[in-house]
Order: sequence, then structure tokens, then C-alpha cells
Amino acid sequence: MNLEEFKHTTVLLEPTVNGCCANADGVYVDGTFGRGGHSRLLLSKLSAAGRVIGFDKDPQAIATGEALASEDPRFQIVKASFADMKVELARLGIEQVDGILLDLGVSSPQLDDASRGFSFLRDGPLDMRMDPTSGISAAEWVATTDEQEIVRVLKEYGEERFAKRMARALIKARSEQAITTTHQLAELIKVANPAWEKHKHPATRAFQAIRIAVNNELGDLEQVLADSVDLLRPHGRLAVISFHSLEDRMVKRFIRRQEKGIDVPRGIPLTDDQLGRTMKRVGKAIMPDAEEVAVNSRARSAVLRIAERLA
Ligand SMILES: C[S@@+](CC[C@H](N)C(=O)[O-])C[C@H]1O[C@@H](n2cnc3c(N)ncnc32)[C@H](O)[C@@H]1O
Repeated sequence: MNLEEFKHTTVLLEPTVNGCCANADGVYVDGTFGRGGHSRLLLSKLSAAGRVIGFDKDPQAIATGEALASEDPRFQIVKASFADMKVELARLGIEQVDGILLDLGVSSPQLDDASRGFSFLRDGPLDMRMDPTSGISAAEWVATTDEQEIVRVLKEYGEERFAKRMARALIKARSEQAITTTHQLAELIKVANPAWEKHKHPATRAFQAIRIAVNNELGDLEQVLADSVDLLRPHGRLAVISFHSLEDRMVKRFIRRQEKGIDVPRGIPLTDDQLGRTMKRVGKAIMPDAEEVAVNSRARSAVLRIAERLA
């Protein structure tokens, strides 16, 4: 494995790390280590007493994390989903942290390496798993999922208008021949798509939707958001970068719910905790500026939201 072959340019590097890191002696979690762009900047801001725990599901990200851990004793890498952050941190003897950072979705190396099966542009085995050793591949998903569920996934996760046509085409194609490569899937989606959008491959939405389903991306996000309430120390910060409107909506609604708490009649003397008010929003949503998008087109749909745990 050549770790230098595929590079990742970190999105919203400074605003995410600055927004999340307030205590130089603190313990921080980078829930989506990737190639470690955020973790490295975070480490540069911490004292000798500070710590960063990185999480990733991807074997190549883990290899990069292990290399960083061998250079810097303040860093540790955990091969697990961020959905399991609570138990994994408990295993390390950590109950609460000063900040949690999430840079959601896939990394450029995952997309660029044809053998990972994420890309409709490069032919490869239809896999799409961030952790290729666990769960089912996209090929198995395509082979076994019923029509109704395929329609739901394409519609909900891909916001695909032609979900029904595509699902039907998929069911027909798989009854004739197994769909095992990214080009096979891209071609059949392309043919089933009657309205190509400008500057967008006709299979873009379908590939994104299947990737989200195969990796349980929304389920994992829901879990880590819920757990962040207990995991953050008072004044600890949560910083989340989303690339998909569904994810961003989940993050925005979660923060709003934590800010507002439960509805009770006015005048009842309850504490913030009793009212379920656990966090406050920090500033507005942050988007990359034109300069960042010009050098990194992947940044164009990124939205960063930050929230702080109440005392
Ligand atoms: C956008 S990249 C992060 C890039 C990173 N911030 C950097 O600067 O290199 C997302 C990473 O998160 C990982 N990932 C996505 N969902 C995950 C999950 N539920 N648990 C653990 N890692 C996840 C992916 O494997 C990928 O490496």
C-alpha cells in the first residue's frame, strides 16, 4: 500500500480546529481521521499534556494514523466507527473530552482509488465500503435489496427524481447478469436516467445514495450526535462538517433541539438539564470561501456547524 499515492486536501481546516479547540491541555477526538489534516493542526495547538484520539473505519486511514501515533505520543488511532465512540473511549479510560470533530463522508483517496469501488469514473469492483472487512459491499447490496428499498435509498439519500426507473432497470439487469463493477452500475443508471444534469455524471446521485446506505452513514451520524451530549465536558465543543444536505439538516436540527430543550409551560422552575437544554450554537454555519473552493472543488458543498456543551 502506498500512502502517498492518493492525497486528501483537508476542508475548512483552520475554522474547524479553531472552533473546536479551546483548551491546550485538553483531550480531543477526531472522529474522521482520514489522512489526519485536522488532527495534525489540532496537535500543533496542544501542549505536551494535550491528547488527540483519531477514529476511522478505513484501513489506509488507520495506517496513516499509526504512523502519526509513532511520531507523536499525544496521538492515538482507533479503528472503529465514530458511532462506537463512547465504548471505545471508555476502553481507553476516557469518559469525557474537550472537543469532537467530524469531517463527514468519504476522503479523496477513497474516491480516487478505483479498487475501492466508490467511483463511477474509474472502473473497479463495486464495493464502496469504508471498512472493506465489515458489512456488505455495494455489489451485494445491489444484488439483494428489494425494489421498494432501492427506490427509497435513491430518493431519500440521492434526492434522485428517477429512482423508480433506476430501481426497475437495476432489478431487470441483475436478473440477467450479476452487477459487480462500478462501470456496469454507472452504465445502467446512465441509461435509466432520462434527464442528465449539466456538469454532473448521470449516476452521481445514485452512487452517493448507495454509498450512504452501504456505510450506514446517517445511522452512524445520529448515534454520535446523541452520544456527544454525554461525551463533551462543560464548554466542550462539537464541530461537524457536512457535505450532504441530509447530514447538514440532521446536525442543524440536533443542535437546535439541544438548545431549545423540551416544551414545558412557562414559569415552571426547571434547570437547563431538566429541560434537556444541553448545548448552545456557536456562531453561524461556516462555508468555505471562493479561494478554498477554487483550489479544492470537493469543498464546494461543505458546511461547518459548531456547538458548545453547557456548563
Ligand atoms: C472527509 S474524510 C476526513 C478527512 C480528514 N479530516 C483529513 O483531513 O484528512 C472522512 C473520513 O472519515 C471516515 N469515516 C466516515 N464515516 C466514518 C465513521 N462512521 N466512523 C469512522 N470513520 C468514518 C472515512 O473513512 C474517511 O477516512
